[in-house]
Amino acid sequence: MNSDIQKIKSDKVVSYSKKIEDGSKSEKASPIGVFDSGVGGLSVLSQITRLLPHEDIIYIADTARVPYGGRPDDEIIKINREILDHFEKAKVKAVVMACGTSSSIAYPVLKEKYKFPIISLIRPGAKAALDKTHNQKIGVIATLATINSKAYEGTIHELKDTAKVLSSPCPLFVPMIEGGFIETDETRKIAVEYLKPLLKEGIDTLILGCTHYPHLVKVLSSIAGPNVALVDPSEYAANELMEVLGKHQLLNSKNHKAKYSYLVTGKVEQFLELGNKLFSRPIASAKQIKL
Ligand code: DGL
Repeated sequence: MNSDIQKIKSDKVVSYSKKIEDGSKSEKASPIGVFDSGVGGLSVLSQITRLLPHEDIIYIADTARVPYGGRPDDEIIKINREILDHFEKAKVKAVVMACGTSSSIAYPVLKEKYKFPIISLIRPGAKAALDKTHNQKIGVIATLATINSKAYEGTIHELKDTAKVLSSPCPLFVPMIEGGFIETDETRKIAVEYLKPLLKEGIDTLILGCTHYPHLVKVLSSIAGPNVALVDPSEYAANELMEVLGKHQLLNSKNHKAKYSYLVTGKVEQFLELGNKLFSRPIASAKQIKL
């Protein structure tokens, strides 16, 4: 890790540390909030549960409003505020924005507004890509809102100004995945078109900048080929969460058997059916909520 990355990393821990002191009610046994517009955040949840198997989780899938990616910024921020308010009432000890669109649009505006630390995917994704790339040509695929925000581009250039960032919005992917089109011929054909301009430029690293996209990893890696490393920001984001909780003695006891609650704003049955196909562990039940 280069010294710039190290510095940004330590700044980050200091700012979380201040928040946790200010909000001293945080408890080890409190749950962690994780959310997305739908099943995308389950790819992040897999990494969190792998690293932190003793933590209780509340997962919100805002399926009534999926997709977020074509909405105006103020609407995305309003939606995120409602979700974070819900987590505040549930007394969570931290929140992971398991959504690239929320991380790029709402995180910069809302990160200081709550007492609990909020983890975004952008910086972890940018760091992961810079760790992987050899030729400094990094591709980013994400929703339209994320690409237009230039969040990845800006963060990568903060960390390494000589890196070249090439972006391609993929607006059809989220509706397709939520509709259950994962490894179909249609998905593949669309993916070929989305990746074409990036591969033509010779990227050696591709950030999956939307948390739905790791569900397409087989299709994407077969198109990108063995010379392009696919980066899922959630691995580094889960590490950042562990680091923040560990530093402040907020990790739950190792004897604790974790409980997972799934809250959805849309149809419960639809979430259970797709969630159980895509998530690494069974989802027995979910509850519908209004935000
Ligand atoms: N998983 C969300 C993301 O990472 C999808 C956004 C959407 O609903 O369009 O951006």
